[in-house]
Amino acid sequence: GQDLRIARIASAIRVIPNFPKPGIMFQDITTLLLDTKAFKDTIDLFVERYKDKNISVVAGIEARGFIFGPPIALAIGAKFVPMRKPNKLPGEVISEEYSLEYGTDKMEMHVGAVEAGERALVIDDLIATGGTLSAAIRLLERVGVEVVECACVIELPELKGRERLGDKPLFVLVNAA
Ligand code: PRP
Repeated sequence: GQDLRIARIASAIRVIPNFPKPGIMFQDITTLLLDTKAFKDTIDLFVERYKDKNISVVAGIEARGFIFGPPIALAIGAKFVPMRKPNKLPGEVISEEYSLEYGTDKMEMHVGAVEAGERALVIDDLIATGGTLSAAIRLLERVGVEVVECACVIELPELKGRERLGDKPLFVLVNAA
């Protein structure tokens, strides 16, 4: 059943204390990718949820949204659009700034990758403060795309990133401390 799959996914995620800096408990999904059943279950759970929702775009956030997004996009018959760090995409881009703990960062998307009226799913590995996902939502909405939902493998609920998404639905598989 679903709960067994979720339990296996949760236990395949490795937690590395004090990475990349002291006090951070890093949620490492590379070990999930090594577990062929848990990785497949992860993709299957998202595909089961989104296959009949008329989604034409899966927008994946750099870097680990590039791992989970494409297999979901292929399975549901949607295109994949990378949402990248600044100065990585070669074509004309639109960009959106978002705030970090210290300072700001920027996310970019190719002009012409999506059209007004399309329906998008935004994928990342993890939501912490929600700043990254909220920038992705703004970027897509600025060009007239409807963001149907955001989906992550892991949520850190203590950081209340979900609140930063307003009324935009967020689906996650695993909650972590
Ligand atoms: C992590 C994670 C999300 C983001 C979530 O990426 O993969 O993309 O942080 O944080 P937020 O909810 O507080 O915005 P990271 O900053 O490690 O960048 P990377 O994926 O390029 O390694």
